Amino acid sequence: MKRVAILISGGGSNMIKLVESMTGDHAARPCLVLANSADAGGLAKAAALGVPTAVVDHRPHKGDRESFQAELLEVLHAHQPDIICLAGFMRVLTASFIEQFEGRMLNIHPSLLPKYKGLHTHQRALEAGDTEAGCTVHEVTAKLDDGPVLGQARVPVLEGDTADTLAARVLQQEHALYPAVLKRFVTGDRALLEL
Ligand code: GRF
Repeated sequence: MKRVAILISGGGSNMIKLVESMTGDHAARPCLVLANSADAGGLAKAAALGVPTAVVDHRPHKGDRESFQAELLEVLHAHQPDIICLAGFMRVLTASFIEQFEGRMLNIHPSLLPKYKGLHTHQRALEAGDTEAGCTVHEVTAKLDDGPVLGQARVPVLEGDTADTLAARVLQQEHALYPAVLKRFVTGDRALLEL
């Protein structure tokens, strides 16, 4: 069985879908849900699902990414994850951290990468007049929101959409895509999945 650690910053709806998916014949199980703030709503939900939780608060590190990451690594290593899933984890990780998990760390991003790296993806898609939007699961490399694409799901942009209505439609697809990609990834399958 592969061990999966999930890193979150917020409500953790993707994390819940990942945790719930890892049952039965799935080749992985969740070993840890870690947040960078004790306020992350997903922590209580993970605990309720029986998954160990941890907090590594970035704030005492006062912008020193390397010392934050050193603490993060220490906690992660204690739980011996094979795979790391970033799921709404809102801290930028540097190359020194990412190298430790090269080829073993996934992220979900709410756009059809390579479009709209970074924040405010839905607003930017609307402003560009895009007729479709979506989400991407990719391997994490040292460049932000880059790295080999493992899966994408598309949704239509509808008339009258706001960033919020579009985000909600994309999030539904995230909930299907991320577990589907992870299930394949843990068996070594990196072929592109399109939903
Ligand atoms: C998702 O839209 C994800 O794509 C982005 O952050 C959001 C996290 O939502 N990276 P949740 O915490 O999984 O509900």
